[in-house]
Amino acid sequence: MNLEQSIVPSGRPAKLSLLEFLKTETAPQHQAIESVIPLLKPDLTLAEYRTHLIKMLGFYLPLEGRLAEYSRKFGDALSIAQRFKTQWLSADLLALAVSAENIADTPNCDNISPISSTAECVGVLYVIEGATLGAQVIRRSLIKHLELDDTKLRFYTGYGSETLAMWHVFRSQAQNLVDESAYNESGKSACEIFRLLLEWLRAS
Ligand code: HEM
Repeated sequence: MNLEQSIVPSGRPAKLSLLEFLKTETAPQHQAIESVIPLLKPDLTLAEYRTHLIKMLGFYLPLEGRLAEYSRKFGDALSIAQRFKTQWLSADLLALAVSAENIADTPNCDNISPISSTAECVGVLYVIEGATLGAQVIRRSLIKHLELDDTKLRFYTGYGSETLAMWHVFRSQAQNLVDESAYNESGKSACEIFRLLLEWLRAS
């Protein structure tokens, strides 16, 4: 899309911020992913919730592996070490009576490529950090329909009361690290992660 789409009152084109750009680029995919995740259904069952968490673990494990590789190679200016979430998925599954053996045997998505630049890494993190915002809506729905206690809601609690603060830190790190000439690279990377997750959720 054109980075200079919107017009400010002076008539000068206004530049989109990186996160505005990523939101616009990925909007259709976000919509598609919402439609394949069943968690807002009033008749959601505990078994469906468990199956969903297993699928998410199978995607987040290799994805976080790529993020860890990236930060070992390029450093941690994006606070990647504070943004890992697979331990929350495992904790929820244990609380839902899935055995440690079954958790360890979860099939993993093997299509996730290494992350080779900061702009790409920002695209990946945009997807999983943005997901913590929508998670707050999902959490409320899970409590309403499944009456789950906090021990089974670790993943969808995410950063809890720190959610917005973590998002704002990410937004400013990302904006400082990615030059406007690399917005498209971040956008491509975010779209690719959404595409792979969608494919994974549909297939598994
Ligand atoms: C049923 C499933 C989902 C629902 C209902 C949902 C809902 C939402 C909502 C309400 C927001 C806006 C939150 C706010 O602005 O405070 C949001 C943002 C976002 N969600 Fe989701 N979401 C879902 C699944 C996902 C998944 C699976 C991902 C990716 C792993 C994801 C990635 C994002 C991103 C990147 C944003 C940030 C958009 C921005 O730039 O503002 N969402 N979601």
